[in-house]
Amino acid sequence: MGEAGFDASRREASVRRKAAGSLARFERALGSLAGGVSSGLRRSARPFPMYFERGAGAQLTDVDGNVYLDYTLAWGPLILGHAPAAVNRVLIEHLERGHTFGAQHDLEYEVAELIQGCVPCAERVCFANSGTEIVQLVLRLARAYTGRTKYLKFEGHYHGWDDSVLVSYKPSREQLAQFGDQPVPVGAGQRPHSGAVVVEWNDREAVEAAFREHGSDLSAVICEPILCNSGCIPPAAGFLEFLREITERTGTLLIFDEVITGFRLGLGGGQAHFGVTPDLATFAKAVGGGLPLSVLAGKAGVMELIANGTVVHAGTLNGNPLALAAAKATIETLAANDGAAYATLWALGDQLREGLRTSLTAKGYAVVMNGVGPVFQLSFQSSAPSNYRETLLADGKLYSDFALALLDEGVLVLPDGRWYLSTAHTAEQVARTLAIVETL
Ligand SMILES: Cc1ncc(COP(=O)(O)O)c(C=O)c1O
Repeated sequence: MGEAGFDASRREASVRRKAAGSLARFERALGSLAGGVSSGLRRSARPFPMYFERGAGAQLTDVDGNVYLDYTLAWGPLILGHAPAAVNRVLIEHLERGHTFGAQHDLEYEVAELIQGCVPCAERVCFANSGTEIVQLVLRLARAYTGRTKYLKFEGHYHGWDDSVLVSYKPSREQLAQFGDQPVPVGAGQRPHSGAVVVEWNDREAVEAAFREHGSDLSAVICEPILCNSGCIPPAAGFLEFLREITERTGTLLIFDEVITGFRLGLGGGQAHFGVTPDLATFAKAVGGGLPLSVLAGKAGVMELIANGTVVHAGTLNGNPLALAAAKATIETLAANDGAAYATLWALGDQLREGLRTSLTAKGYAVVMNGVGPVFQLSFQSSAPSNYRETLLADGKLYSDFALALLDEGVLVLPDGRWYLSTAHTAEQVARTLAIVETL
């Protein structure tokens, strides 16, 4: 094992030298752009947020000309990699035909039909622009359909940055002690009453207790089918089936937030992967192939409240032709040859996970690889977590040092331990990544 794990001070000095152009730009941006970044989480990049000039396939080039193998994929959307030709072609064509109409066009029903064809719960579909927005729509729809005001969420699950859902996302140990079983707000200024009832992931007894206490007020249970945002923790055997059963029995809606799992695990997302069909599901990230698009898909009887205008669904840029052209090209590319792209993605994921595990274990690190196919989490801890609280046992500082060393070697990973693969990644690039890890 190297000094301080992965030689963090030497690595930081090296990155500061070769990425000086990024640092200069970041310092300039701090004078005008609040925090120097466009989304708060990007501030956590170490040693400083990088500036990129170009993305192509699985590679990114920064403003100093350094080339990186990219396992961040813009936090998930780029399932086909950067600037894929199939998406570029239709974007160029649609740019020339008009950017947005605020009115109907063929791509709306074409993409809706494509989604209907592959997502099990998608009897009806509607569009918005971000995951945060579409989660607000689905929770509003659930309240309207059931006439109930609260919803149940799981600790560590992320459903966007609106007040109503930005609770108990990654609470610290101190916050957990302070708030007890009450939802923990993530930032200042949030409304105190989110409507959330929060329990731990994979805890049947806690779900049953929440239903006993709040059942008549619960409009929905919402979850990421795999807890991708906190450690890529899978559902325990039978847990999703249990959620399906208890929601059905109590007239509560089951919502899968498939913003990450959708079109990433496969065309049918987590619901097809696990064989559990929710009433409603939300999608963003991969479905737009890199353009801003989110989707609500659900059972016709529930979606009827949107169809008949009882529940308001609005948005100036909803369903714009550029986002939908990108979605159509993305879905068609993924669906070609019976979804052959997914077989490759899953094989690459296995190769990368296995290689990382073998190499880091041989170096003496306790490492957990959670997740499946093209999205997974690498954590330095001794046993696989089954809920958010167990992720607190991971050595986050060691992972951060590891990520810094990778950056220095030209491999870009997210600061939180999640890795994404795209159809543009190759077995050779994965092997190169593993060879680099060997040398750390
Ligand atoms: C599961 C999940 N839901 C919702 C969101 C919010 O999506 P957006 O960032 O597009 O608002 C995210 C974003 O990471 C997510 O991972």
